Parts: sequence; C-alpha cells; structure tokens
Amino acid sequence: MRNLNQFTRFGFKNGVYSFIFLLSILALFLSITTLCIFYPQNPLSFTNTFGDQTTGQGGSIQLLDSIIEKLMDQMRALENSAIGSIEHSELKDMRLKHTAFLAEILGLTGSLKLSLAREKEDIHQQQQRTPPTETHPLSRSNGSLDETAEFFLTEEIRKYTKIKPNRLGKKNFMGANGTFMSIGHACFSLKEELEEYMDYDVGDFCKDDWKQAQRLMVLGCDPLPRRRCFARAPKLYSKPLPINESIWNLPDDRNVRWSGYRCKNFACLAANRTGKGFFKCSDCFNLTHHEWLRWMQVNTSDFLIEKVLSIKQGEIRIGLDFSVGTGTFAARMKEFNVTMISATINLGAPFSEMIALRGFVPLYLTINQRLPFFDNTLDMIHSTRFLDGWIDFILLDFILYDWDRVLRPGGLLWIDSFFCKNKDLEDYLDAFRMLRYKKHRWVVVPKLDKDGEEVFFSALLEKPPRPF
Ligand SMILES: *[C@@H]1O[C@H](CO)[C@@H](O)[C@H](O)[C@H]1NC(C)=O
Ligand SMILES: *[C@@H]1O[C@H](CO)[C@@H](O)[C@H](O)[C@H]1NC(C)=O
Ligand SMILES: *[C@@H]1O[C@H](CO)[C@@H](O)[C@H](O)[C@H]1NC(C)=O
Ligand SMILES: *[C@@H]1O[C@H](CO)[C@@H](O)[C@H](O)[C@H]1NC(C)=O
Ligand SMILES: *[C@@H]1O[C@H](CO)[C@@H](O)[C@H](O)[C@H]1NC(C)=O
Ligand SMILES: *[C@@H]1O[C@H](CO)[C@@H](O)[C@H](O)[C@H]1NC(C)=O
Ligand SMILES: *[C@@H]1O[C@H](CO)[C@@H](O)[C@H](O)[C@H]1NC(C)=O
Repeated sequence: MRNLNQFTRFGFKNGVYSFIFLLSILALFLSITTLCIFYPQNPLSFTNTFGDQTTGQGGSIQLLDSIIEKLMDQMRALENSAIGSIEHSELKDMRLKHTAFLAEILGLTGSLKLSLAREKEDIHQQQQRTPPTETHPLSRSNGSLDETAEFFLTEEIRKYTKIKPNRLGKKNFMGANGTFMSIGHACFSLKEELEEYMDYDVGDFCKDDWKQAQRLMVLGCDPLPRRRCFARAPKLYSKPLPINESIWNLPDDRNVRWSGYRCKNFACLAANRTGKGFFKCSDCFNLTHHEWLRWMQVNTSDFLIEKVLSIKQGEIRIGLDFSVGTGTFAARMKEFNVTMISATINLGAPFSEMIALRGFVPLYLTINQRLPFFDNTLDMIHSTRFLDGWIDFILLDFILYDWDRVLRPGGLLWIDSFFCKNKDLEDYLDAFRMLRYKKHRWVVVPKLDKDGEEVFFSALLEKPPRPF
C-alpha cells in the first residue's frame, strides 16, 4: 500500500503532469503549424509580412524534432519505472494505456513532420520556378505570358513579350517590379504576318515595310511589338520649311519615302485627278484652293471656327482633331492660338509626314486604340470624314465614351459632317444623344450626290460638368 502511495505521489503524478504539459505544447504547436499549412499557397503575399517562409517552416520542423524527442524520453522513463517494481494491476493498466497513447501521438507527430518537409520542398521548387515578385497581376496569371512568348516562333517576339524584371529586383520608381510589354491580341490570329514583320537583324536597317505594319495595326494587332532595327528614312532629307512658310506650302518631295504610295510626289496628291490611292479628302493636299477656305468661309463647312470658338471665348486652348486630313484644321486653329493634335494614319498618302512637315503634331493612331490622353484633359475634340455610316453602333459607342473620357467638363465635341444613309440617321443621332451633352448646334443637311439617300450631320456639343 505504501509502495503504491509513493508511486502515485512521485511517479504517476509526475507522469500525468508532464503528459498534460506535453499535450499543451502539442496543442500550441498544432495551432502554429495549421496556420502555416493554410497559407503556403500564397508565398508571394505572405513573404512581406511574415518574413521568409522557408526559414519559418525549417523552424517548425525543428520544433517537431524536439517534441518527438520529449515524447521518446517520456516513454523511456515510463518503461524504466516499470522495471523492478511490483505493480498494482490497475496501475499497470494505466501505464500501458499511457504508453500506447504516447506512441500514437509520436506516430502522428512523425507523419506531420514528414508532410511539412514535403511541403517545404514543394514551395522551394515553386520559388525556384517563379521568383517571388510583388504579385504583378500578369505574373500571377499562371505563366500565361510565357505561353504568349512560346506561341510565336520568331525570337524577337518572344524577347519582346517576356517579362523584364527590374535589374535590382526591387520596384522601380513607377511602382512596378518589372516591365511588361504587350501586343494586341489580334496578333495571335495574324501570327504569320507578325512573324514576318518581326523577322529582322537586330541593329540593322529595318525592311521598308511600314505598310505591312500599318496593315497589322488596322487589323487589330495593335499595339504592335517594337523592333530593334533602324527605320528607313528618306534618302535626301532636307530641312523642313520655316514655320511661316511650311503651313501653307507643299513640302519638299524628298522629305517623304514614296514607296507604298501610288503618287510619288506632293503635286500628284494635290492635283485633281483620280487614282491617287485614297478617296477620303481627295482634295486635301490642294492647300491653295480646297484647304485654304475650309472652316473659314460659309459653304466649306457647317460651322466656322470663329463662331465655334466664340461660344467659349478664350477657353479652348488644346484639342484633338480625329479626322482624315493634312492638318489644315490644326493650321487654322493655330491662328486662333489653339494647339491641335491631328490623329491620322497613312491611308494611301503620307498624311503623317504632311502634317509634320507643315509644322503640326501627327498622332499615328488607329481607331482600335484608346486615346493616349488622361481623363478630363482636352478642351476640344473635332472629327470629320472619319466617323461615317460605315461604323458599327457598338464601336461608335466605345469611341464616343473614350472621347468623353478625355474631354474636360465644358469641353467641346465638334462632330463635323458625319454622313450616313438617311434610314440610319436616327440610330446614329441616338448614339450622339446618349452623351447627354449640351447642344450648341445640331444640323442635318441632305447630301446631294447620292440621290438624297445620304445625309450629313453636324453638331457642336458641350460636355456637362459631373460633380459627383
Ligand atoms: C494553372 O496551371 C495549372 C497547371 O500548370 C493548371 O492546372 C491550372 O488550371 C491553371 N490555372 C489557370 C487559372 O489557368
Ligand atoms: C518584387 O518586389 C519585391 C519587393 O517589393 C521584392 O521582394 C521581389 O524580390 C521583387 N521581385 C522581382 C522579380 O524583382
Ligand atoms: C519667314 O521668316 C523668315 C525669318 O524668320 C524670313 O526670312 C522669311 O522671309 C519669312 N518668309 C515669309 C514668306 O514671310
Ligand atoms: C488646286 O486646285 C485648283 C482648282 O482645282 C487648281 O487650279 C490647282 O492647280 C490645284 N493645285 C495644285 C497644287 O494642284
Ligand atoms: C475636281 O474635278 C472635278 C471634275 O473632275 C470637279 O467637279 C471638282 O470641282 C474638281 N475639284 C477641284 C477642287 O477643283
Ligand atoms: C454658298 O452657298 C450659297 C447658297 O447657299 C451660294 O449662293 C454661294 O454662291 C455659295 N458660296 C460659295 C463661295 O460657294
Ligand atoms: C493669339 O495670341 C497672340 C499673341 O498672344 C495675339 O496677339 C493674338 O491676338 C491671338 N489671336 C487670337 C485669335 O486670339
């Protein structure tokens, strides 16, 4: 009896206490590891807050090792205490149960350690595959960017589209971890053409293939990948005319590469003849007659610049001319101290070069693109001979909302001689009404050359303030 009492006081009691102690350690440990196990798939976002995840897991495995060691110690101590002592059967039973329990916990802890080690290995491999970037949305997209690069066979396209991490592995001043150069998704369906376009020798002169580039852009491969070759220039470029002469004189023919155009000089473009290679604004290279009067005299346009600007005296300073033309609108607006940028592509004639040689800013832009201006910045958008009855209603919607985005409150939208079939007119007018702009002018004029089937529409609209 005494023997039993003693054992209870020292041996058994001790055993139970250390057992409870062990259990609480185990509980604490389990809660930590559970936390660690729940988040390992997110090493990118947790690296910053929790430090290096790998060392964290290395620590857990060490902790596991020491727990296993303590469990083993305890089991050994129990076995030792049993040796040589005559035991009460009840006590013996208890001891056996205790040992079995410890063995079970030991087994569970062992497998936990194993799975942790495996997980650590996995994360290590993952980190080697994708370096821990500060989760740029593209780097999270399952390596689809690399798939983009793999899609094309030309090495230059691959080099262009691959993510370029910053040199020092830190964010740059713009807050990005790397540089992501994109291409228009229509490039994928234009694979062969794009590959041909991107097949060149780095550092050499590019092929004379601007036309192919423009075709790709018009078909939606926009933005086009950039190239690392030197664009061809006119053979004998002479300096442009001084600004007081350049605006109203045809430029020097030598300042344009004429390959790719039917006309081979400006006189051909200005002459009143067919077969120039373009039909929109067929007279717009004739600066002395056709262009000279536009927007300045009645019968050349529905509204005159002077009248339009008087609506907002002195308020219109900068704007965009989204038209087909040679920069005459910008030229006239300059006389009113307004700076216009002329968006254009070279459809059949060197429009961009012409605008630049006259002394204005040509913006080489297709209709596919979002305007490269920030919200609420421009005082005016003018458009003529561009949006016509060919345009799809959904496309028109996207374009009008983008124009609205860049126009400032109180800015003017000048729709100049939009033409369409008579029967489509109401639908188009609804598209413009959708903007809910203030109408300064709004006119519909029958177009005389197509048996009255077509009509012109012009409007002068003002973007309302949106103080929300
Ligand atoms: C990510 O890639 C894995 C295999 O690489 C694939 O099983 C999974 O569906 C992909 N997820 C997405 C969102 O593409
Ligand atoms: C991205 O930035 C984070 C810090 O913001 C840095 O820890 C990480 O290494 C960077 N990754 C790359 C690939 O530059
Ligand atoms: C243009 O300006 C230059 C000097 O600025 C002058 O020499 C020239 O005569 C001017 N040309 C015309 C057509 O006014
Ligand atoms: C511009 O048009 C007028 C009238 O049609 C013509 O007389 C003149 O020669 C043209 N200008 C050029 C440069 O062709
Ligand atoms: C161009 O020629 C056509 C006839 O061929 C004529 O109707 C038109 O007025 C001419 N344009 C100019 C600007 O002279
Ligand atoms: C402008 O149109 C009116 C009739 O609407 C006409 O009488 C006049 O001659 C035209 N002027 C010019 C410059 O064409
Ligand atoms: C344009 O600015 C100049 C110089 O500031 C000024 O003399 C001229 O009157 C202005 N023109 C208009 C149309 O406001």
